[in-house]
Amino acid sequence: MTMKTVLITGAAGGIAAAIRPLLRDRYRLHLLDRVALDDLQPGETGFIADLSDQAAVLKACEGVDAIIHLACAHSLDISFEATLDANYRGTLHLLDACQRFGIERFVFASSHHVVGHHAAEGFRNDRAEIAPDGFYALSKVFGEGAVSLYAHRTGLRALIIRIGSAGPHAVDGRRVRLWVSIRDLLQLIQIGLDHPALRCDTVYGVSDCPEAFFPNRRALELGYTPQDRADEHRADNFVALADMPDSEGPGYVGGPYMPHPLKLA
Ligand SMILES: NC(=O)c1ccc[n+]([C@@H]2O[C@H](COP(=O)([O-])OP(=O)(O)OC[C@H]3O[C@@H](n4cnc5c(N)ncnc54)[C@H](O)[C@@H]3O)[C@@H](O)[C@H]2O)c1
Repeated sequence: MTMKTVLITGAAGGIAAAIRPLLRDRYRLHLLDRVALDDLQPGETGFIADLSDQAAVLKACEGVDAIIHLACAHSLDISFEATLDANYRGTLHLLDACQRFGIERFVFASSHHVVGHHAAEGFRNDRAEIAPDGFYALSKVFGEGAVSLYAHRTGLRALIIRIGSAGPHAVDGRRVRLWVSIRDLLQLIQIGLDHPALRCDTVYGVSDCPEAFFPNRRALELGYTPQDRADEHRADNFVALADMPDSEGPGYVGGPYMPHPLKLA
């Protein structure tokens, strides 16, 4: 069987850097970012492109079987305008390429911030109503809707992963409730790339967390078996909930986004 080709967007970012070494044995990789990658390995092809450049996106998508869409403009106080190119136009350019080239699978890195405005205390809910906590989160709500549109219209198989907090350590009393290890996130991505029953599903990118915000039932139904426990990966300088400053937003599922004013531009 020939090796499939997978496009990773945001390939110079933190999550891509962590998953690339684990994916490159299984797939040929097209790696797209607006900044250059200077460490390309055999089987990897780099594409320096901005997602707002549709022609460049189409070039990177040629010959691709699946897309892992990680690229994103984000910051705590990002304006609506600053999210438009990468998070709105860029996502649509990729989905349009799926339709044109018959790309079969799409894994979308969404965020828990789509429900970030909910109060954290006692929160445990996979199906909470959408409650974005800023323009970053709003752009993820758009992305989820766009993925759903193309999945239902064109038959694209898609997995939306609402990622919690990815990295080596859980750093505080909020993030320990939604931390995800890289290998657990990779397991979810693999479900997105391979699972035969996938249509357009939404799961949470979380490991086994204490007082978990998200029970993650759909992920478990799809066979997800988290390998890592957030409790065992607390940072050395872990800040307990009671010691978190208000600026870190301990009272909200999404944490520190709430105090930042909403700016259109
Ligand atoms: N890291 C986390 O804990 C976390 C939590 C929730 C969601 N996510 C989501 O996962 C994805 C990856 O996260 P990350 O931590 O690796 O992010 P990151 O910021 O480290 O990487 C994002 C990458 O996207 C690239 N990029 C931005 N705009 C672009 C554009 N217009 N064209 C091309 N490339 C562009 C950047 O250059 C960067 O390399 C993001 O979509 C993020 O929203 C991450």
